[in-house]
Amino acid sequence: MTTEDHLTFRQFMLREQDRVGTSSDLILLLEDIATACRVISHKIREGAFVGTLGATDDTNVQGETQKELDVIANDEFMRHCANSPRCAALVSEELDNVVWLKKEAKKGDYFIYFDPLDGSSNLELNISVGSIFSIVELQEDLTDLTDEAVLIAGTEQICAGYSLYGPSTSLVITTGHGVNGFTHQMGSGEFLLTFPDMTVPASTQEYAINASRQNFWDAATKRYVDECLAGKDGPRGKKFNMRWVASMVAEVHRILTRGGVFMYPMDSENASMGGRLRLLYEANPMGMIIEQAGGKASIGGSRILEVAPTDLHQRCGVILGSAEEVDLIDQYYSE
Ligand code: F6P
Repeated sequence: MTTEDHLTFRQFMLREQDRVGTSSDLILLLEDIATACRVISHKIREGAFVGTLGATDDTNVQGETQKELDVIANDEFMRHCANSPRCAALVSEELDNVVWLKKEAKKGDYFIYFDPLDGSSNLELNISVGSIFSIVELQEDLTDLTDEAVLIAGTEQICAGYSLYGPSTSLVITTGHGVNGFTHQMGSGEFLLTFPDMTVPASTQEYAINASRQNFWDAATKRYVDECLAGKDGPRGKKFNMRWVASMVAEVHRILTRGGVFMYPMDSENASMGGRLRLLYEANPMGMIIEQAGGKASIGGSRILEVAPTDLHQRCGVILGSAEEVDLIDQYYSE
């Protein structure tokens, strides 16, 4: 197969417009986001030369040290999203409050939630990192532009996606009609459709969890992992493999490619914060992508997308991937 056989991102989106009625405004916004991801990818690859892989003196609202590239990626996302006349508000992992781009938000405007550079502690190690985003469309005009106005459940997302900066740069998106993956072709500068109709196999023999936290795990997590470790002779009757990249985008991409389950449960150490991963710009977009690919996404006993957010930077437990595994873990939670 040659690169001529692959649709460009724009060709694909126009085909989606015919097929499922994707709006021109959403297509233009996604093209701007794709541009932001291309620029971020380039800046990461330049990082070692220009000295941006390391930390700044600042911390973000989560109290985490910001890397120079966290700030650069955030600026790129903001700049490119702001091109869209329909973009009313931006919510970023790196910013304390909502950034309002309009004085009045109208029905049909967009709220965009993003983690501009997820897994950035991996930067100096040259291990994959990524950007994650989610888009919600306003259902009514809004005059009171408060932080509370953007606290909307994941079920309302009209689009979610991520870009993975690995050996190649991928862009994976869903607009609620399946999941499609694109690869950045350096020569043309285009994202080309290389992984159409991505699906998560229902069963798997691979799980991902930070095992160093096992002293803090709840009973359901302990039971699930113990049963995986017991292998062929255990209750699961099969051998399991374990992977942990410490970069959520890379883990989700692996699951979309060959199946598996990713777990960052709420545990006794992170419970006071509500968990580790952020709901609005990590768990919700990844939850939508995984569900659209036929998998499941849970906080441990119930669906991520149904959580009613109460805080901009709220955290939650995240268990997502192959449907059979997530169902089993949910069942252990209910017991
Ligand atoms: O957003 C936080 C993040 O970097 C995720 O990408 C990743 O899954 C997780 O944290 C890694 O956590 P830990 O440092 O516990 O391995």
